[in-house]
Amino acid sequence: MRLDIISIFPEYFAPLGVSLIGKARERGTLDVRVHQLRDWAHDVHKTVDDTPYGGGPGMVMKPEVWGEAIDDVIGDGGPRMIVPTPSGRPFTQELAQELAGEEWLLFACGRYEGIDSRVMAEYGSRLRVDEVSIGDYVLAGGEVAVLVMVEAIGRLLPGVLGNVRSAVDDSFAPGAMRNLLEGPVYTKPPVWRGHEVPEVLLSGHHGKVARWRRDQALRRTVATRPELLAEIDAETLDKHDRRL
Ligand code: ADE
Repeated sequence: MRLDIISIFPEYFAPLGVSLIGKARERGTLDVRVHQLRDWAHDVHKTVDDTPYGGGPGMVMKPEVWGEAIDDVIGDGGPRMIVPTPSGRPFTQELAQELAGEEWLLFACGRYEGIDSRVMAEYGSRLRVDEVSIGDYVLAGGEVAVLVMVEAIGRLLPGVLGNVRSAVDDSFAPGAMRNLLEGPVYTKPPVWRGHEVPEVLLSGHHGKVARWRRDQALRRTVATRPELLAEIDAETLDKHDRRL
């Protein structure tokens, strides 16, 4: 998968050189290219923003600079374009899965009050453009949101996770874990500071372990995110429960 990221703070993306994503890049599974937006600014100050039409606080990113940058980065190609913004559609595991199936993604990181809306209109007629939010809070810019999305998408690419089952059992994973939170996990020793590992996990009985894990996922979801559970229809819940 090819990933292009355009930002006025390319330094933000240093973490993409480490851990799973770093290794995926070394192996060639991921081709990440980070671009400095200011390289496409023409004035001596490398200006990328201006005051908003209609007045109000803050600055808006200029369309001309973005247009030249995106044109150069994509050439004749057609990546799927993602614009991080708190006003966007929610980033979910389902969207991460969908984006992991794309060959080429372009992330356009806005700062300040955002990117002039005509940029999304212009490329929306040529590319698939999604404005995406990683949660109901406001960050200082799109960079951290892109780091979040790239990590969530990258770990779903074939060969990136050491154990394919890790992604299947994840919270929110499509299938039995859709809309469920993963329950607690334990490792050795069996007793630590008086806290015991639940006995069923030491039993070696795979069926009982699977049943216990599902119960824990259901309980945790009811306790912390009841609205998620309410979205699963009864038949789907029963289907996965009958299997255990
Ligand atoms: N930029 C600022 N806040 C954001 C958010 N919550 N999600 C995505 N991009 C953002």
